[in-house]
Amino acid sequence: MQLLDGKALAAKIETTVVSGVKELKDKTGLVPGLAVILVGQDPASAEYVSMKKKACDRVGFYSVTHEMPSDISQAAIENTIKMMNNNPNIDGILIQLPLPKHIDTTKLLELVEPSKDVDGFHPYNVGRMVSNLDAFLPATPFGVMRMFQEYGIELSGKNVVVIGSSDIVGKPMASLLINAKATVTVCNSRTKDLKAHTLAADIVVIAVGVPLLLKADMVKDGAIIIDVGINRLDTGKLVGDADFESLKEKCSHLTPVPGGVGPMTIGMLLKNTIKAAKLREKRETK
Ligand code: GUN
Repeated sequence: MQLLDGKALAAKIETTVVSGVKELKDKTGLVPGLAVILVGQDPASAEYVSMKKKACDRVGFYSVTHEMPSDISQAAIENTIKMMNNNPNIDGILIQLPLPKHIDTTKLLELVEPSKDVDGFHPYNVGRMVSNLDAFLPATPFGVMRMFQEYGIELSGKNVVVIGSSDIVGKPMASLLINAKATVTVCNSRTKDLKAHTLAADIVVIAVGVPLLLKADMVKDGAIIIDVGINRLDTGKLVGDADFESLKEKCSHLTPVPGGVGPMTIGMLLKNTIKAAKLREKRETK
């Protein structure tokens, strides 16, 4: 079994981002800037934001985190987004999801200037992605595609099952795979016979947040498994949505948790932010 080492690949991506930052700075004096909006006290969200901030520091980006209490008003978040849209030092704006129930998430995502939408969640970028046009791609599925490329995993003509249909992972993952000419099935919690689907898959991408859901008896010999889940068990142990221990005997390729897709998500956010900074440079030198 070949382990798909996201940690190593993300480190390689960081190196290219560091060179990109230097090149941009030398040429234009610009430093890429990322603004993150974090609402409330969700420990997982706080942890993700802290990892993103550390990554920005490592590669030499300017970054700012707007931490807001969970009872913040819609209008206050909207004002922060408008401010970041107009701030010339900010290239990328990221609203950490999920947001509290009283907040209209769609309205906020639509307010982000599409050229600063480094998460690729604005409908403009979603539409361009689906149409296979140049766009900011959501970091997690973009990272998974980069892994396929790195390990020479052919997608054209492959049966790929995506488990989970979220806007953040499942739906964009399916779009990118369709554009790569895979035959794509998207399953969700209502799917009648999940095992029947996964047994027919050459590749399974799972992103549901259910610890150890995908077992060895659900996949065929030599399947490729991409595990997007990160779950903390009561024991404190971090596990994915796939049962690594049983699957490792059966798959041809498997992502570890941690150290698989997680670091790639951060790597692709950095890539998107430098892409946004280059767009700013183009605008400013016009
Ligand atoms: N919550 C879980 N994953 C993500 C992500 O990739 N971006 C944002 N903004 N929020 C998330």
